[in-house]
Amino acid sequence: MSAYENEYRMAQSSPEQYWLEQAKQIDWFSAPTQGIRLDENGIERWFPDGEMNTAWLALDYHCQQGRGAHQALIYDSPVTGQKHVYTYQQLKDEVALVAGMLTDLGVEKGDRVVIYMPMIPQAVMAMLACARIGAIHSVVFGGFAPNELSVRIEDAEPKVLLTASCGIEINKVLPYKPLVDKAVMDSRWKPEQVVVFQRPQCPAELDQPRDVDWQQLVAKASPQDCVPLNATDPLYILYTSGTTGKPKGVVRDNGGHAVAMKYSMSTIYNMPQNGVFWAASDVGWVVGHSYIVYAPLIHGCTSILFEGKPVKTPDPGAFWRVCEEYKVNVLFSAPTAFRAIKKEDPQGLCLDVYDLSTLETIFMAGERLDPPTLEWVQSNTHKPVIDHWWQTETGWAISANPIGLETLPVKAGSSTKPVPGYQVEILTEAGEVAAPNQQGFVAIKRPLPPSCLPTVWRNHDRFQSGYLSQFPGYYVSGDGGYLDQDGYLFIMGRIDDVINVAGHRLSTGEMEEVVGAHPAVAECAVIGIHDELKGQLPLGLVVLKDGVDVEALQLEGELVGKVREEIGAVACFKHALVVDRLPKTRSGKILRRVIRQIADGEEYVVPSTIDDPSSLSEIEKALHSS
Ligand code: COA
Ligand code: AMP
Repeated sequence: MSAYENEYRMAQSSPEQYWLEQAKQIDWFSAPTQGIRLDENGIERWFPDGEMNTAWLALDYHCQQGRGAHQALIYDSPVTGQKHVYTYQQLKDEVALVAGMLTDLGVEKGDRVVIYMPMIPQAVMAMLACARIGAIHSVVFGGFAPNELSVRIEDAEPKVLLTASCGIEINKVLPYKPLVDKAVMDSRWKPEQVVVFQRPQCPAELDQPRDVDWQQLVAKASPQDCVPLNATDPLYILYTSGTTGKPKGVVRDNGGHAVAMKYSMSTIYNMPQNGVFWAASDVGWVVGHSYIVYAPLIHGCTSILFEGKPVKTPDPGAFWRVCEEYKVNVLFSAPTAFRAIKKEDPQGLCLDVYDLSTLETIFMAGERLDPPTLEWVQSNTHKPVIDHWWQTETGWAISANPIGLETLPVKAGSSTKPVPGYQVEILTEAGEVAAPNQQGFVAIKRPLPPSCLPTVWRNHDRFQSGYLSQFPGYYVSGDGGYLDQDGYLFIMGRIDDVINVAGHRLSTGEMEEVVGAHPAVAECAVIGIHDELKGQLPLGLVVLKDGVDVEALQLEGELVGKVREEIGAVACFKHALVVDRLPKTRSGKILRRVIRQIADGEEYVVPSTIDDPSSLSEIEKALHSS
């Protein structure tokens, strides 16, 4: 039996024993004696009697082991020209002071802290400071508009909101404070304090009674130690798009998460303790939580925090420059980032300028790794490229090529095999296990391994109904796909109303709510259509109310502006098409999937339940003439 098969079977046959063994890899205050206990909702909770602190594992533990002088975090910001290296000792000291600041503001264990910050070291410090005192952080991606922030504030009910005076995108400075003020004004829940980290590029006016200055508070703060936490205490809430307009607060616990992070660094990424790990993502996404902040630090690596883009900061050589400069061993990003590089540097000329000899492997996730991108990256970098599939809900890879155990042959289009601990099965509509190569619902048999969400924040029914009820005993991922005859997993895309735009997970249902609220719109559908660069882009199809007289271009402009204002620029909603009607089933369900297939020029089957087949040819004409 191969090393991978051996591990996989052990995790499958005795999960509790397997994960208790893995749990020995982290430094518990009180080690767990029990693997799983069912909670009051009947959900498996990992390591229920273990006590620990995630910030301790990420910082203090390494200092205690004499590794305080080792580089922990490298901040590289081409948009400001700044670079800064923090050793483990320095980062620990800074985090302890930020924890002191939070304590001075009255933040206690279990309180929520919303973090709306750009890619600066203070964002990482803020997360670890919360972890240190047992506060639950909820990071909101900086590209989201005030309304999105507001919805999250209302749901998480934070005591304090941490922000910075501005974010910096390609050639533009984005003041954050007005966005935060609007979000707080629109929210029924008001944080007691808004703490602003002032950046010289655009200092903010602290003109609200709740506003306080980060630098001034930290200067007065005393360092705080790590508090012991139960393994099942929440570390963070991270909101992610679901099928409705309201994002879901994915809850992550402390203990299971730490064990999975540590395990993944060796098993999936094959990282040595002193290695340099670079997840070119954003702390606002799960990839940033797990692989910019927690896993590399828990493992004792150097992590890179890059405030820039793969292109235009300043050129498509940015990734390779960072890899050379910091001797990166593992690079992890989304395929869209490499498509952006390929578009600007198709011959890979920028690559030749840099020495990539330390770079061992390139990992990709966030969306399907299309074979042409895989091929381009492989042939230009001459490095192994590994696609792995995961979700905010799990916090780490569900399927991957487990190179820390053994390197399995790569199959283009597949994220290789289920990681030990994840019993992935393909289920048919009737809940039966599908045959090899037969497409169906990608489901994971319970118990889920450590780190996977135990609930949706303050909405357990949503967890139950959205993930667990459809197939009893299984978690449904929301993705469709198949396992081939060799057990390789192929993820074929979402089967719900979620789309992936430039590796960012967005809800078309949410966009429909915004578009549908326009006074001229009777009904609408938003679908994700194929895009060469970003993977998918949203397209709105709108039916006007009777008697409305509006120029299609003007309406499109208004709808584009509205989505940008309500959801954010990151939604990339740029097109809305006026149509006479939308194809529907006889029961009135809009045939979004068929519309998408028509838009992408794919073959489609006319559903037997269609109300009027001629509506499809009308849509086809409208889409192809636009
Ligand atoms: N704060 C504020 N605005 C942001 C933002 C942030 N953190 N991130 C993106 N935006 C804005 C952009 O400025 C852009 O605004 P514009 O419409 O005014 O130009 C808009 O949101 C769309 O951004 P994006 O889709 O990122 O497009 P882009 O053209 O700026 O960059 C890529 C395209 C491919 C280079 C970029 O998306 C990328 O690097 N993706 C990597 C994927 C990734 O990190 N995924 C996370 C999971 S691994
Ligand atoms: P997020 O929760 O933002 O990480 O998005 C998770 C979703 O992104 C998954 O449900 C998939 O639809 C998609 N996804 C992530 N990684 C991959 C991958 N390697 N291949 C295909 N789809 C992916």
